[in-house]
Amino acid sequence: MDIVELYNEIEGVPYTPFDSGKQLFNFVVEKKFKNCLELGFAHGVSSCYIAAALDELGDGHLTSVDLQNVERHPSIETLLDKTNLARYVDVYREKTSYNWFLKKMIEAQTNNNMCEPLYDFCFIDGAKNWTIDGFAFFLVDKLLKPDGWILFDDYDWTYASINETVTDGVNHRDLGDDELNTPHIELIFKLLILQHPNYSNFTIYNNNWLFAQKTTQPNTQPIQVVHKTSFLNILNTVGRKFYKTYVKSPPIH
Ligand SMILES: C[S@@+](CC[C@H](N)C(=O)[O-])C[C@H]1O[C@@H](n2cnc3c(N)ncnc32)[C@H](O)[C@@H]1O
Repeated sequence: MDIVELYNEIEGVPYTPFDSGKQLFNFVVEKKFKNCLELGFAHGVSSCYIAAALDELGDGHLTSVDLQNVERHPSIETLLDKTNLARYVDVYREKTSYNWFLKKMIEAQTNNNMCEPLYDFCFIDGAKNWTIDGFAFFLVDKLLKPDGWILFDDYDWTYASINETVTDGVNHRDLGDDELNTPHIELIFKLLILQHPNYSNFTIYNNNWLFAQKTTQPNTQPIQVVHKTSFLNILNTVGRKFYKTYVKSPPIH
């Protein structure tokens, strides 16, 4: 599916902005991923970008997991139907966490005490929490094929940065000052992923996305840190009204 057509169908729905969606789309197409996993789909915007990339490749599958008790309007099912991409995606909702879904997948993939990996790519855009996502990393690792990729969103996100008292069931008042003010995904990167013998090719993009590849060799490459301010990012800051009025379709670079 054409990415501009997709954008026109999902415009205004949170959370993935067009620029990031395009990057996600290009990444999946470029790497030719076949079996993708997404932890945290919300309304399904990022799911649509991944599914559109699979459509572009002509093959592939996405499994998307979120929480059961969070109702979203529009729902992921609505967006997938609207964009005609539903055939690429299986949607799962778990009562407590995607970590329970991962437990079930590890069980299903276990034979003779060995877990057979099945995913080429996992996009983790969920809790942003040390305990939940630190554990999710190790669970995903068991299910990720050699040479597969992990992409974490919210690299620099902190509990203190938002004007809420509860985030995804975590009460901010239960957290210590350092837990409130430290970006948990950055900790997961520096203390778990970077130190893991089987991960390398790290890129931190706009202090927001963290890419890491599962490799058989320990990391020898420097960490790439990319800062890019795009036309659309500026427009997002200046105001989408201007964008809607004066720009007919999103610029593609
Ligand atoms: C920022 S939203 C995801 C946005 C989506 N990937 C996109 O860009 O369109 C984060 C989602 O993670 C989900 N979530 C948070 N913690 C979770 C957990 N432990 N298990 C499953 N889903 C979780 C939330 O319900 C929420 O829908």
